[in-house]
This record gives sequence, structure tokens and C-alpha cells, in this order.
Amino acid sequence: MKTIKIGGTNFEASQIALGIMRMAGLETNKAADAINAAVDSGINYIDSADIYGDGQSETKFKEALKQSGVSRDKLYIQSKGGIILDPKRSHDGLVFGARYDFSKDHLIESVDGILQRMGVDYLDAFLLHRPDPLMEEEGVAEAFDTLQREGKVRHFGVSNFNPQQVELVQSWVNQKLLINQLQFNVVHSGMVTRGIHTNMIDEGSLDHDGGILEYSRRKHMTIQAWSPFNYGLFAGMYINDPKYPELNDKLQELADKYGVSKNAIATAWIVRHPAHVQVLLGTMTPEHIKDSAAGADVELTKQEWYDLYFAAGNDLP
Ligand SMILES: NC(=O)c1ccc[n+]([C@@H]2O[C@H](COP(=O)([O-])OP(=O)(O)OC[C@H]3O[C@@H](n4cnc5c(N)ncnc54)[C@H](OP(=O)(O)O)[C@@H]3O)[C@@H](O)[C@H]2O)c1
Repeated sequence: MKTIKIGGTNFEASQIALGIMRMAGLETNKAADAINAAVDSGINYIDSADIYGDGQSETKFKEALKQSGVSRDKLYIQSKGGIILDPKRSHDGLVFGARYDFSKDHLIESVDGILQRMGVDYLDAFLLHRPDPLMEEEGVAEAFDTLQREGKVRHFGVSNFNPQQVELVQSWVNQKLLINQLQFNVVHSGMVTRGIHTNMIDEGSLDHDGGILEYSRRKHMTIQAWSPFNYGLFAGMYINDPKYPELNDKLQELADKYGVSKNAIATAWIVRHPAHVQVLLGTMTPEHIKDSAAGADVELTKQEWYDLYFAAGNDLP
């Protein structure tokens, strides 16, 4: 398993991580199997959020970690906060936000809840989940200082932020923001496409994220790619989807060449980008975890990387 330096620091972790958004509904032994499969594949980084399964993913993680026999010290554990759930609309593990809240009290309460549910004394990283238009300097800066001083959080970052939003929060806080979590994969590749279509007037030139890819590289911020196999916001998986015949043919061709699965090639496409993106797997199936993690060790050629990008429906000007 390749490792990367998170945020360009000595915080070194596996390039593939396991997200536990889908852990809430599992039997504890299945959740423990997922943790063991991840660790056996060289994964040492866990991503969560206080809202996953309305907190139940984190409660399940605590039980599953105990059952797995994996020591907390062998893992980096990250979670996110800043979204308040709407209890009226959230049901059966599906969660919907009522608002975002970056107030000091809410951020500290969020971390305290995470630590309690996950059964850990500290988080290796805590991220602001989605940019709150009502965020203010005092709340965020004081929350980060308090959480760091009390030893509850070691590193900080953001999620779904554009460069100006990162700059704004960075100008307030004493801690370097090391991480930005964004959706990125061969189908959801807008941040690459925008760069390729610079100075054109076609759809590909539309800037949806303010040049976040180039910004993150310049600032040595680690991009964590969420939903690496999904084509929309939980719209569905492009792997084995008949809507993507050309892409699936190309994934299969390269899977055969490298002796791995299509999941591994989809992972390899993300890892091949020189930004050293960390991939957050969401599968809870041990076989899929192992298959997907194997992609970190596949080094696609430049032409193969471009060929997958074309097969996903993109072109070069
Ligand atoms: N910051 C944010 O806003 C944000 C948003 C969403 C997610 N995230 C993070 O990103 C992580 C990953 O998200 P995700 O779960 O959407 O990612 P994903 O890895 O793209 O999707 C996982 C889904 O794909 C299925 N899958 C994977 N390989 C498969 C295969 N070969 N055959 C059939 N099904 C397969 C899984 O089912 P099986 O379990 O059956 O394999 C699971 O339902 C989350 O856990 C969370 O930590 C962050």
C-alpha cells in the first residue's frame, strides 16, 4: 500500500482510506470484517462524520473495532462535523440537513459526541463538513484552539470547500488546514475537465470549484476523494452500469492487463493524479475493499489514464 504525507506534513497515512458512512446498519461482526479487510489491505485511515446514520455508524464502529482486535493506535481516525440534522426528514439511516452550524459550541459538542460514540480519546483529524455561509471567525477559531489544547483533535481540515472558502477559514485559525474532502473520480472529474477546457466557452470550461485542484497542489493540501465509484451524489455506481459501456469495457481491458478488478482500475485512475489524492472507499464488503485497495499499487501509464477519461465521455479540445 502506498502512503502519502497528509497536507505535506509528517502525518503519513495509507493512500486508500475506509469511510464508514455505510456502517450504521451492519451487524457488528460484518462491520468488524470490514475493518479487518481494510487493515489486511494496508489501510490505516478511517473517515467518518457525526451525521452518518445519525451517529449510528460511529457507535457501530466502536463495537466493531473492539471485535476486530485492531488496536486504535494502528489507525488514524478522522471525522467531520458542522451539519445539523433535520429529524423530521431523516429516517432509516438516510440523513438530511436542517442547517450548517460552525458555532464554537456546536463544533465542540460535535467532537465530544464523536469521541464518545467511537470510544476514542482523540481524533487524528476533524473536518468542517460543508461550508456554512453563516460561519464566523470567532466560533471556528476558538473551537479549533480549544479542541487542540484539550488534546481532542490533532489535525484539522475542511470538506467540499472552494479555494476562497479555504483561504477565509485559514486566515482565522492557528492550525494549518491539511485536508479538503471532495468528490472526485473518472466520471465526476469536473476539476480536471475545467483545467483542460480553460479559456473555452463550452460546458467543460464551467468552473464549479474555483480551481480547487491546482490550489490544493500549490498549498500541499490533501484532497480526499469521496464516493470514488459513484457518478453523482449517491446517484449510483458507474462500475458495471450499462449507462457507461465504453468506460466499463476500458476498465475491464485494463483490469485484465494488470490482473486486478475494475474497482482497482477505478481507484488507480484517482491515485495516478500527481496531486496524491487519498481515496475514501465506502464499500463494507471485505472482497470489494481488498479489490479496490489493490488499485493503489497499479501504476497506469499516462495514455491509459487519458483513455479512461475519454471512455467516461470526455474529450480533449
Ligand atoms: N465529505 C462528503 O461530503 C462525503 C460525502 C459522501 C461520502 N463521503 C465519504 O466517502 C466515503 C465513500 O463514499 P461512498 O460509500 O459513496 O463511496 P463508493 O466507494 O463510491 O461507493 C460505495 C458503494 O459502492 C458499492 N460497491 C463498491 N464496489 C462494488 C462492486 N464491485 N460491486 C457492487 N457494489 C460495489 C458498495 O456496495 P458494497 O458494500 O456491497 O460493496 C457501496 O454501496 C464515505 O464512507 C464517507 O466516508 C464524504
